[in-house]
Amino acid sequence: MFDLIVKNATLPDGRTGVDIACADGTIAAVEPGISAQAHEVIDATGYLVSPPFVDPHFHMDATLSLGTPRMNVSGTLLEGIALWGELKPIQSVDDIIARALRYCDLAVSMGIGAIRSHVDVCDDDLKGVEALLEVRKQVAPYLDLQLVAFPQDGVLRDPTAMANLLRALDMGVDVVGGIPHFERTMEQGAESVRQLCKIAADRGLMVDMHCDESDDPLSRHIETLAHETQRLGMQGRVAGSHLTSMHSMDNYYVSKLIPLMVEAGVHAIPNPLINIMLQGRHDTYPKRRGQTRVPQLRDAGITVGFGSDCVMDPWYSLGKADMLDVALMGLHVGQLSSRADMEWCFDAVTVNSAAIMGLEGYGLAKGDKANMVLLQATDRIEALRLRAHRLAVIRAGRVIARADLVVTKMELPGRPLTVNAADYAP
Ligand code: FE2
Repeated sequence: MFDLIVKNATLPDGRTGVDIACADGTIAAVEPGISAQAHEVIDATGYLVSPPFVDPHFHMDATLSLGTPRMNVSGTLLEGIALWGELKPIQSVDDIIARALRYCDLAVSMGIGAIRSHVDVCDDDLKGVEALLEVRKQVAPYLDLQLVAFPQDGVLRDPTAMANLLRALDMGVDVVGGIPHFERTMEQGAESVRQLCKIAADRGLMVDMHCDESDDPLSRHIETLAHETQRLGMQGRVAGSHLTSMHSMDNYYVSKLIPLMVEAGVHAIPNPLINIMLQGRHDTYPKRRGQTRVPQLRDAGITVGFGSDCVMDPWYSLGKADMLDVALMGLHVGQLSSRADMEWCFDAVTVNSAAIMGLEGYGLAKGDKANMVLLQATDRIEALRLRAHRLAVIRAGRVIARADLVVTKMELPGRPLTVNAADYAP
């Protein structure tokens, strides 16, 4: 007797007609025609079953705060940072917890199973840290939340940031963050990378820095981050988020930089929605797109995962926890239009991001955790095309969110009575 069987699924690798049996929170069998009994049986009717979406870059302490205390008038990154500075002193721990829990509800409904959230430590009361540690505990049964100690105002630029960051790590924050391009000088930025990597190495932690989030082709902190990663033997444990300046870097310099990143095993986390929205603001025309060199990084062997970064906060008024929106924007901006490229974009919000976060038991093989999402789409490309509806979200072998098939009733004489967008696949 299994807890759950999902019948007749299509898997991301293209296998069709597959049944997935779950027992004791793990996947017990993945094969056609499982006939055993189960407490619940779901018929996938040939639709895609994927491991859950993974968001490797988010700001849960700011999410759903849109309009508090005011709107971002210019829509720029710097006004967003200033606005966040106005909000921090007036929000309470309970405010942050309530907003974060609401966001997690939305995220789960959209099939997200894991989120890496940066949490601002440039607040001497560490309200965000206290709040998100509580949220991490409360959501643990249904969502993996990994926290990054993020010194938003610069770990060297802000006089108490370093002490706060160390306190946050002592309190149980998982990952060391940074923002070298926001320090006062290039040298201070590089020094911040060195100090933060040393802290992570000493504590055996991962690193994920907001790195070179600008249009400045000479913002080269990713070079220092990769070099420190290699020097300290932290290969595979370090990620550079955004890396937008790489888009504008000189090609010769990049031909030297990318091999260094490969040797260092540094991961890359572009945030397509935010990067296309916030970068290139000083340009007239031609205007830069601001997304890092995704195909080049990927083709060199670097693990690239797409993050969402923001949903309805001081930096971004839109978003709905839809990692397919994120992947679709990454696809367009990166001109990733071949069939294989598009499939890879789906992987960038699932398996690649899971690898970056170091999630254990992620996947749809026997023995993996029984976490998955059933989509109203027949394959990975269709899922992107449709921003497919989530029909069921499964965690530890139990359905934790479900929705009816979306079918529109039509009233056109002589034409079909219903339209299901997923029926239009080639
Ligand atoms: Fe961010």
